[in-house]
Amino acid sequence: MFNTMTITKASGALIGSLLALLLLFWAGTGLYSVKPPGGAGHGEGEEVAQAYSIPVEETGGGEVAEEEQIDFSALMASADAGAGERVFGKCRACHKLDGSDGIGPHLNGVMGRAVASVGGFAYSDPMVAHAGEAPEWTPEAMQEFLADPRGVVPGTKMTFAGLPDAEDRANLIAYLTEQP
Ligand code: HEC
Repeated sequence: MFNTMTITKASGALIGSLLALLLLFWAGTGLYSVKPPGGAGHGEGEEVAQAYSIPVEETGGGEVAEEEQIDFSALMASADAGAGERVFGKCRACHKLDGSDGIGPHLNGVMGRAVASVGGFAYSDPMVAHAGEAPEWTPEAMQEFLADPRGVVPGTKMTFAGLPDAEDRANLIAYLTEQP
């Protein structure tokens, strides 16, 4: 008797959580799908790729690297500093904007600043070496670094995974540009 009840309860809980997962999955698919409900036959990859493509004027003889550059300038042109302030929430634990240093160097005035140049901050050797390859924090250098900090500066002591979303990076750079 007792055992049957326990088994019934346990399988009830299991089926319940499976159902909840199924509902979550279904809700998720619905939320992220761009196509109108009921529309079938189109791969979702197509829609996602579409969302990020930016019309660029044909200049003739464009290389891939150049195109990426143009795409990022387009993102920068429409960047939203207000949204960037929210993205900066991910940096606040280590970086301040009032000229004082924390776990990381202060980031007010970082745009256009020389890499690894805050006096009194103990940069890692790899970051100091990086200054030799990329002397200045230009928007391009910054967006590359923020996409993959430990890929761009292997061995950096900035333990931050990076910002995978290019729009987040553009918005954040727009915000940092406004912090003198
Ligand atoms: C967990 C702490 C931490 C977080 C979070 C963090 N950083 Fe850093 N950051 C550091 C440290 C430490 C350094 C110094 C790295 C070195 O010397 O290798 C650094 C260095 C930098 C530098 C180089 C500055 C210079 O003077 O050359 C930039 C730019 C930077 N961080 C931007 C950011 C941004 C933007 C974010 C948020 C998206 C962020 N960091 C998040 C710790 C952090």
